[in-house]
Amino acid sequence: MIDASTRLIALIGHPVEHSLSPRMHNVIYRHMDINGVYMAFDVLPENVGQAVHGFRALQIRGFNVTVPHKQAVMPYLDATDRTASVIGAVNTVVNDSGVLTGYNTDSSGFMRSLEYRGIDVRGRDVLLLGAGGAARAVATALAMHGAGRVTIANRTPDKAAALADDINNYVGGSVCSGAPLSDIGSISCPYMLVNATSAGMWPHVESCPLPADYDLSGVAVAYDLIYNPERTLLLKKAEEHGCMPVNGLDMLIWQAIEAIGIWFDIEVKYELALKGIKNIENFS
Ligand code: ATR
Repeated sequence: MIDASTRLIALIGHPVEHSLSPRMHNVIYRHMDINGVYMAFDVLPENVGQAVHGFRALQIRGFNVTVPHKQAVMPYLDATDRTASVIGAVNTVVNDSGVLTGYNTDSSGFMRSLEYRGIDVRGRDVLLLGAGGAARAVATALAMHGAGRVTIANRTPDKAAALADDINNYVGGSVCSGAPLSDIGSISCPYMLVNATSAGMWPHVESCPLPADYDLSGVAVAYDLIYNPERTLLLKKAEEHGCMPVNGLDMLIWQAIEAIGIWFDIEVKYELALKGIKNIENFS
């Protein structure tokens, strides 16, 4: 029941109407006896600062930040943890007695999702498709957690090369390299393939970022950050070749679990978060 002690957790983005986070969080809060509500707010880019000032004034416990505000929110915070600074994007903010600290739980959530499925990338080669915001969070996580070689392949190759340089500079070393997406056939078979492009996302479900002749045999894990549809064309092809398929619901779930851990210091079970996303209320 909502009462005078109920704590508000917010999401800001633009747009936010299709976000799955409110229902996932609210189901989790109910089942974990957290006296909180999670509300989504569509905030225009020019109002991000005002929104954060308002959250300070209201002394809310925390908020999530989604596209397109993950960079823009940073100047309004008091502190940023190291991973979020390296990535240059924040998706979770906690308010500790008026001090707002930003985190990137997309990145930590991605690593938790691998751990949960027993996928160990240490020393192993990864082929990452895409060079946008999602790719940056994933590539940073992989480089910081000891992946062998991370090849970032993008339709616009300059962006892949720039992202690889950025991450190499931050983490020290040369674990990342950039490549044109059209050239990935010549890259030796990776342990894990990650799709961080939007190719294949609803409604473009017939689209696949892989060249038609790309050989998936030998790839152990295919991770598509897309969750709508749950099985992209890329994941269907990967499954046919015996790869372990992982879809974007995992990253969505684990970034939320990580955020709830930061705000409320509790550990949520994966299954509960999944049921929240699927809007399943009646379970024990
Ligand atoms: P996000 O924040 O989700 O990462 P983004 O920053 O807009 O979104 O990045 C989208 C990524 O998907 C980019 O790497 C983009 O490639 P370009 O840099 O060449 O634009 C990639 N992308 C989008 N549509 C694609 C398609 N049809 N085929 C291949 N890559 C595509």
